[in-house]
Amino acid sequence: MIHKNLPVHVGFIMDGNGRWAKKRGLPRKFGHREGGKAFKKCVDDCIELGLNHVTFYAFSTENQKRPKDEIEALLKLFDEYLDDIREMDDKNARLRFIGDLGFFPESTQKKMREAEEATAKNTGLTCTLALNYGGRNEILHAVGKIISEGKNVYSEEDFGGYLYTAGMPDVDLIIRTGGERRLSNFLIWQAAYAEYVYTDTLWPDFGKKELEKALKEFSERSRRFGGV
Ligand code: FPP
Repeated sequence: MIHKNLPVHVGFIMDGNGRWAKKRGLPRKFGHREGGKAFKKCVDDCIELGLNHVTFYAFSTENQKRPKDEIEALLKLFDEYLDDIREMDDKNARLRFIGDLGFFPESTQKKMREAEEATAKNTGLTCTLALNYGGRNEILHAVGKIISEGKNVYSEEDFGGYLYTAGMPDVDLIIRTGGERRLSNFLIWQAAYAEYVYTDTLWPDFGKKELEKALKEFSERSRRFGGV
């Protein structure tokens, strides 16, 4: 299906992995594994539907409070994903990573840098993974950078250049699965005028039909950006 008025940049809050596993009597990490599969399928769907920019909230700064074994399982998933980014390259997709990445082992950080470099010239979908990401952390980090460079930054545009998302368009649509209706510190600067679509579907069950439904809903909204 060809969609009209597609959002330029879609953010995904992938919530509900834990509940998906609990419903099946499985440990939470199994939910994350299924969530990883849903993420990969979703990237394919986004490519097929002609989206240009997508950002997935895969690990928040607050997620550091989770039990050690759950964090380890998530890190393992990210690592495994980074081991095979050829598929993304084959699909002409570009990978980017945003967040306080120093939290990850040096070997993982190296794989992220290599994945960014290997796909930098691709011209299709830009797929950004928010890892150990927090919007407040991002703003503080930007302010620190401006101070350390001794710069005066007065415009929103110039300030945006100091964020992890430098060079990316603002987010137009945020899709959150798992039934909660909050932003949870995700792209708080970039989503100032975003539209929101919430679904009770748990992330591992989120698929193309629901993505298309969300895009349709977005296309029917009237966006005035504070004007009339
Ligand atoms: C929130 O659901 C989800 C996370 C904290 C992790 C999201 C990660 C993935 C979907 C894996 C992505 C994989 C790659 C390779 C990028 P929750 O665990 O808080 O669910 P709950 O609210 O049901 O407990």
